[in-house]
Amino acid sequence: MADDDEPREGRAPDRRVFLKVATCALGGGIGVAAGVPAVSYLLHPVGGRTVTASTEPIDAIAVRELGLDPVRVPLRARAVRDAWSSTLDVPLGAAWIRRDEQGEVKALSSVCPHLGCAVAFNQPAREFRCPCHDSAFAVDGQRQRGPSERDLDPLPLTIEKGRVLITWVRFRAGGSSRDPA
Ligand code: FES
Repeated sequence: MADDDEPREGRAPDRRVFLKVATCALGGGIGVAAGVPAVSYLLHPVGGRTVTASTEPIDAIAVRELGLDPVRVPLRARAVRDAWSSTLDVPLGAAWIRRDEQGEVKALSSVCPHLGCAVAFNQPAREFRCPCHDSAFAVDGQRQRGPSERDLDPLPLTIEKGRVLITWVRFRAGGSSRDPA
């Protein structure tokens, strides 16, 4: 065997190992490159923002239609979107809206703060009554009697071009503290 053959025989296994490692690395790299978009496609839209109710102000009623007695106005969102879908014209709830003695517009949620039934306005008694457990509230929302631990929940509003715009908020039922649900 010639002298110069020895190193060549010794290098052959090294070359094979190198090629094996290089092939594995290349294959692995291609696999990861192809897998990342596939995994992100499968996970989409996990982690996206989930919207359960509209926070957009809702055009409720003209100010000139309001008097001292409250008017019940159903509130509907033009669209409610979450990470997966979009639903149009969604009923959210209702507001009782009136003008007080000073002419200021006030809006109250129609949801009873006790356990979430809908309150109705009793015109002769000029109070809101809940049919479920007999909570009663004054026309300005103040708690009068019954198990509700807090007044009716006021809703944020703005007036624009003579229209009342209400922002719907669903508050947590029960308790004396007013927290968004
Ligand atoms: S839900 Fe209104 S009094 Fe109970």
